[in-house]
Amino acid sequence: MSDTPRISNIRHIVPVELAGRSYDIVIGRGVLSEAGERIRTVCPGGRAAIVTDSHVAKHHLPQLEAMLASAGIASKALVLPPGEKTKSFAALESVCDAVIAARLERGDAVIAFGGGVIGDLTGFAAAIVRRGMRFIQIPTTLLSQVDSSVGGKTAINTHHGKNLIGAFHQPVLVLADTALLDTLPEREFRAGYAEVIKYGLLGDKDFFDWLESGAWRRVFAGGPEREEAVRISCASKAVIVARDETEQGDRALLNLGHTFGHALEAAVGYDGTRLVHGEAIAIGMRLAFDFSQEQGLCSGQDALRVRRHFETVGLPVSLAQVPGGTGTAETLLDAIRQDKKVARGALTFILVRGIGESFIAKDVDARIVREFLERQLVRDI
Ligand code: GLY
Repeated sequence: MSDTPRISNIRHIVPVELAGRSYDIVIGRGVLSEAGERIRTVCPGGRAAIVTDSHVAKHHLPQLEAMLASAGIASKALVLPPGEKTKSFAALESVCDAVIAARLERGDAVIAFGGGVIGDLTGFAAAIVRRGMRFIQIPTTLLSQVDSSVGGKTAINTHHGKNLIGAFHQPVLVLADTALLDTLPEREFRAGYAEVIKYGLLGDKDFFDWLESGAWRRVFAGGPEREEAVRISCASKAVIVARDETEQGDRALLNLGHTFGHALEAAVGYDGTRLVHGEAIAIGMRLAFDFSQEQGLCSGQDALRVRRHFETVGLPVSLAQVPGGTGTAETLLDAIRQDKKVARGALTFILVRGIGESFIAKDVDARIVREFLERQLVRDI
């Protein structure tokens, strides 16, 4: 993907400040090679359970196991099938069993080594086995490095929907090795980049300007801008999580684009070949900007800049780009009503006054949203 050295000794440390449960996010190329010593520092016990998927295991598991062994940590790995279906009760049972069978105690480590699916599932198991085990995140996708590995949300899915059963359980350490992203399929990297842009759009116009002005190319190519983008994203999230760990208020800003996006994911039956999460929220963020513009909240110029940047990097922006279609406006609205951010029947959206100026809008009128979606379905190309 690039001629950048695979390993570099630049490390960014982003603290997540939570009373009595603060932890560091360590970001850099080659951080995986320091996993043993870094984990030993926060987990003084000599054992670890690693939960991963077969893709990650093939490329990187032997290295993690060797690093743990060299720090005197005995590990056992559980390798699960990749994909969203793994966030299930059945997989949760396997992870809990594996942690108990490995005779892990409170000072030992439960390690999630993978993307958002592995992180959410393993974190939930770590939250409930022995009423809470020390948990380490080693995220291997861009999306999980900038979003799901940070902030302690853990969950599995049920047939009623995604992430409906879960807990807040903060990790004690996050190791984000940006070199692991070199082997990600381009579509997955690009979808993760949608979550990077999100931090610019929701509260940091300078970050969006920087990405838009060309830094995005070097983020994709694996230059030092990649570490910088991960650092800025994690730092933004850390501030919000420290302020509102359990999403009583501001943390909801992290859901910019997600209310529309989740409805699109539901419309394709969570079929990741048609639409992956990052693509859905790219369309969702573009819709949030256009909706805000139509409501007279945000300038047309900002809405257009957002659309253009997504198009430049190859992210989808319109309903017409969803393979197989999205169904009617009413179907999408039904999915929005099912969203857990709906409070007492009123629709809650994250809207914007411009790039970097998001806010929580409660009591959004469903009729206006339906009319907006109807217009998008007709004219969206
Ligand atoms: N992914 C949104 C959050 O962590 O709150």
